[in-house]
This record gives sequence, C-alpha cells and structure tokens, in this order.
Amino acid sequence: MNRAIYPSLKGKRVFISGGGSGIGEGLVEAFVGQGAHVAFCDIAIAESEALVERLADAPFKPLFLPCDLRDIDALQAMMAQAEAELGGIDILINNAANDDRHTIEDVTPAYWEERMAVNLRHKFFAAQAAIPAMKRAGGGAILNFGSISWHLALPDLILYQTAKAAIEGLTRSLARDLGRDNIRVNTIIPGNVKTLRQEKWYTPEGEAEIVAAQCLDGRILPVDVAALAMFLASDDARLCTGHDYFIDAGWR
Ligand SMILES: NC(=O)c1ccc[n+]([C@@H]2O[C@H](COP(=O)([O-])OP(=O)(O)OC[C@H]3O[C@@H](n4cnc5c(N)ncnc54)[C@H](O)[C@@H]3O)[C@@H](O)[C@H]2O)c1
Repeated sequence: MNRAIYPSLKGKRVFISGGGSGIGEGLVEAFVGQGAHVAFCDIAIAESEALVERLADAPFKPLFLPCDLRDIDALQAMMAQAEAELGGIDILINNAANDDRHTIEDVTPAYWEERMAVNLRHKFFAAQAAIPAMKRAGGGAILNFGSISWHLALPDLILYQTAKAAIEGLTRSLARDLGRDNIRVNTIIPGNVKTLRQEKWYTPEGEAEIVAAQCLDGRILPVDVAALAMFLASDDARLCTGHDYFIDAGWR
C-alpha cells in the first residue's frame, strides 16, 4: 500500500512514550519514515535498543531514553533531556500503558495508585513538561491514547478502563486551556490492535470473535494506528482538537 507523506511532519521534533514495542514501535517507525526527529522512552530496554538499531540508517536515527513513567521525577528529567537533544518538542504522543487484568477483589489502594500511575498520571506530566517548548515554537500537537475497552465495558479491566475514560476528559481539558497557544490535543482510541502483547490475551478464536464484531474484516495493525496519528499530528489537521478519534474497524 502507498501510504501518505505529510510534508509538515518533516523535521518535526516528536516524543513518543512507550515507543519500544507494540503500537509505540509502529509510531516510532512511522514518524521516522516521515523525516521527523523522534525520541521515545520505555522500560523495555532490549526491544527499544533493537528498534533503534533497525532504524539506524534513517536520516534521523531515533533516540531511546529509558524511563519508568511511574516515577514522575524520572519522567521530568527524561523529558528535559528529550527536549534538549531534539532542540524542542513539537509533537507529544502519550502512548504508554499497561492493560493487566484484575478483579474487583484484587484492587488494593496501592494497586489503584500504581494502575493510575502507569495508565493516566504520566500523560498529564509529560504534557506539562512539553507545553513550554510548544508555546515557544508557536504551537504543537498532543495525542493521548485512550481505548475502546471502556466504551465496550470489557471484563476484568476496571482500573485500566477508569484511567482510559479519564484520558478523554484530560484531552478535552488540555485542548481548551491550550487552544489559544495553537496547541492541539486529541485522543486516539484504538480497537483491538494485533500486537505481541495482545496475543497474550486473545486466542485465534478470540481474535475471530473480535473480527466478527467489527464492521470491517481484517486485523488492525500498528501501522494503521500510526496512519491516524500522523494525520492528527500534521498541519493537515490544523483545526482538529479536543476530540476522540476511533480506529477500530467499526467494533461494536
Ligand atoms: N493493542 C490494542 O489492542 C490496544 C487497544 C486499545 C488501546 N490501546 C492503547 O494503545 C497504546 C499502546 O498499546 P499497545 O498495545 O502497543 O501496548 P503494549 O503493552 O504492547 O506496549 C506498551 C509499551 O509501553 C511500555 N510501558 C509500559 N509501562 C511503562 C512504564 N511504566 N514506563 C515506560 N514505558 C512503559 C511497554 O514496555 C511497551 O513498550 C496504549 O495506550 C494502550 O492502552 C491498545
């Protein structure tokens, strides 16, 4: 398939959280392919280093910064390093998350805090860290990753789904407060995307059930999610802000 090239993404300074594997890996590859200058963080060291190696011949080799986003001091130091090494941040993609399953009885106060830390809190603090650079540059784009899960009310995912519902509120609030600075903020809501981690949760029969519940045939791949992210991050989407965009093949 011939995919779109966005001239406005060339040379843009892009930061992606959780870029080492899954959808994040697809985002890193896609933005590097547009000639953007990409930095990403992750806790998956081996996967992240392998990705950087694979893209070593790109015009701008991506920069990997190891960081556990649950640690806000570490996140702030890492974001400052990303900004210094890229010379600014124009596009922030808040992608990292963790969809571990749990029952109501499993949840302790400490687990609640930890799930909000891995799925919600870092998105605000990464935005807070990137906003001054975006303002200095005259604008920017923030993409927060939500999830179709809470729209469907999937089982055994209460805290993940609670965090993912809140992300849509975070998007709308940031979009309101940052609009006059020409900073756009949107949510991307994936359906079920075929990644290594999802193979942990779904058997081939489970995958077939998902496809049957979609309007369209076919499994969504990270590259399909990246296509939406690139449009929303590009100048082509200059008047798109404060909203939630689904890429779910019509899963209902
Ligand atoms: N794959 C799907 O079907 C699907 C569906 C709906 C929403 N999403 C959302 O899309 C985004 C990407 O999902 P994915 O499927 O690629 O997930 P994934 O689990 O495959 O990848 C997430 C990445 O984030 C990293 N990460 C996790 N915790 C971290 C931490 N504390 N600090 C730093 N990095 C950390 C992981 O190491 C991994 O590289 C997430 O926000 C997820 O909720 C995915």
